[in-house]
Parts: sequence; C-alpha cells; structure tokens
Amino acid sequence: MRVTVSRKAHFNAAHRLYRKDWSFEKNDAVFGKCNNPNFHGHNYELIVSVTGEIDPETGYVIDMKHLKDWIKTEVEDAFDHKNLNLEVPEFADLNPTAENIVVVIYNKLKPKLTADQDLEVTLYETPRNFVTYPG
Ligand code: NI
Repeated sequence: MRVTVSRKAHFNAAHRLYRKDWSFEKNDAVFGKCNNPNFHGHNYELIVSVTGEIDPETGYVIDMKHLKDWIKTEVEDAFDHKNLNLEVPEFADLNPTAENIVVVIYNKLKPKLTADQDLEVTLYETPRNFVTYPG
C-alpha cells in the first residue's frame, strides 16, 4: 500500500532571469520585467511529496521530522533571503526560473530518501504560477 505524504515550506528569494550570452535587448524581449538588472523577489511556496510503503512497525511512510529537517537544511537555509543568482552556487550559471529551481530542490532532497520512495516537488512562484517536477 503506497501512500503519499507531503510537507509545505516557504522561502523568500530574489532573482533575475537572463542569459549572460544574450544582449540586454534579447533578454528583455524574452524575460521582460524578470530581466530587471536590480533583481526582484518572490515569496516561494514549496510542497514536497514522498510516496512509499507504509512501514508496518511505525505506520509511517517517512518520519515527517526528518523531511522537515532536510527541507530546512537543503532548501530554507540555502535559499531563504538569498539572491539566487549571486549567492546560491547552483544558479551561478543556471537561470533561476521556477522550472530550474524545482529541479535543483528535487536533486538536493532525492538522495535523502530510500530507493523505493518516490519524490515529487511543486514550487509556487506566485499564488497562480507553479511548477511540478515528479523526477
Ligand atoms: Ni521572478
């Protein structure tokens, strides 16, 4: 019996969407306001979901305390109140779109899980815009 358990989390971060190898005009045409050279911020909301078998001894799919701690160390401590372009090494040469952020988060959390646990991460960049990476 496989069950999905989820935890919500939150971080604030700044970013700028642009490619170093494009002109400002081309970046402006593709990324619009998100190419603001002075950066801009988002209140990111995160949903981390783990699917796996219920452990017959504990009744848990995963200990939520562990999931909470991994999200704190790998995501909140790493991203919260940071400039993603300038302060987070994963985005030094990777455009910090919601799509790329959700994949980076997935790749940081996946090694914490057992081989038979599936991970899915959803990231809200705004209340209406969100992306999901099921691995
Ligand atoms: Ni943005």
